[in-house]
Amino acid sequence: MQIELQKVKSYENVFVVEYYDGYVAGGKYNVQNLNTTYMGFSASYGTIFFDNFDEAQVVADKLNKQSTMNKIDYYENNADSYIETSKDLNMDKFNAIVEEAIDSLDAPFPAKLLDIGFGAARDMKYFKGKGLDIVGVDSCKKFVDNAKDMGLTAYQAYLPNLSMIPKEDIFDIIYSVGVLMHLDKKSRIELFKNIKKNLTPGGFLIISYNTLDRTNDSNRLFYKLEKNVIDSEVEMTLVSEEIIVDSRGIEWITSTFVR
Ligand SMILES: C[S@@+](CC[C@H](N)C(=O)[O-])C[C@H]1O[C@@H](n2cnc3c(N)ncnc32)[C@H](O)[C@@H]1O
Repeated sequence: MQIELQKVKSYENVFVVEYYDGYVAGGKYNVQNLNTTYMGFSASYGTIFFDNFDEAQVVADKLNKQSTMNKIDYYENNADSYIETSKDLNMDKFNAIVEEAIDSLDAPFPAKLLDIGFGAARDMKYFKGKGLDIVGVDSCKKFVDNAKDMGLTAYQAYLPNLSMIPKEDIFDIIYSVGVLMHLDKKSRIELFKNIKKNLTPGGFLIISYNTLDRTNDSNRLFYKLEKNVIDSEVEMTLVSEEIIVDSRGIEWITSTFVR
């Protein structure tokens, strides 16, 4: 997953790579250790000059990789504070949507649920408390360890891969809150295919996401989502849709699809 942060700009015989102000995701671009010779760089302007395009491209690629890696590591590097700020959020409206889907299932109790990108495991805890059978996946090891400490079944998974879920685990409900914005189109399409494989016929996928443009966020890797695009990527039947407004006034599109 590579995002294009830096393009080499050329001015006659000088090639320039800019690196914002040099700060990304709780760290710095490590400009000094790029192992490349360059004509010079100016930290105050965040600009590196080259006399050769290829060398400039190598440095741009390395900077982009550092930046992307830092952004991907955001949750790992900020796990404790993220858990603290998100573990008690009010999810009444979202929970009601999931519970309505559970009620309309033609399946024996307890329904089997999968939480994709569970973070603080707040919602997993809630559904476990309701006696449901809940499993979760997340890429962040600290979140996985935290969920296990809470007595939950959690796997470390880097989306769109869901292959670490045991083959016999087929779910009645798969839900994902605030995760799709971190995935590029290719990953989302692949994820929706994998979700379908892990969802029982007649089972529900419930996704909650917003369409804000946070692609310039310097801490986390975001993609801008569009509702129509997401609806077509899922390739399942949309059965309901609600807008949930959170305490910050952000609108979360919460869509339920049936397989
Ligand atoms: C905004 S948080 C949402 C957490 C939780 N669902 C909630 O509502 O509080 C996004 C979550 O997605 C996870 N995540 C992001 N990219 C991922 C990926 N490629 N694979 C697996 N998990 C990912 C993060 O670790 C984080 O837990």
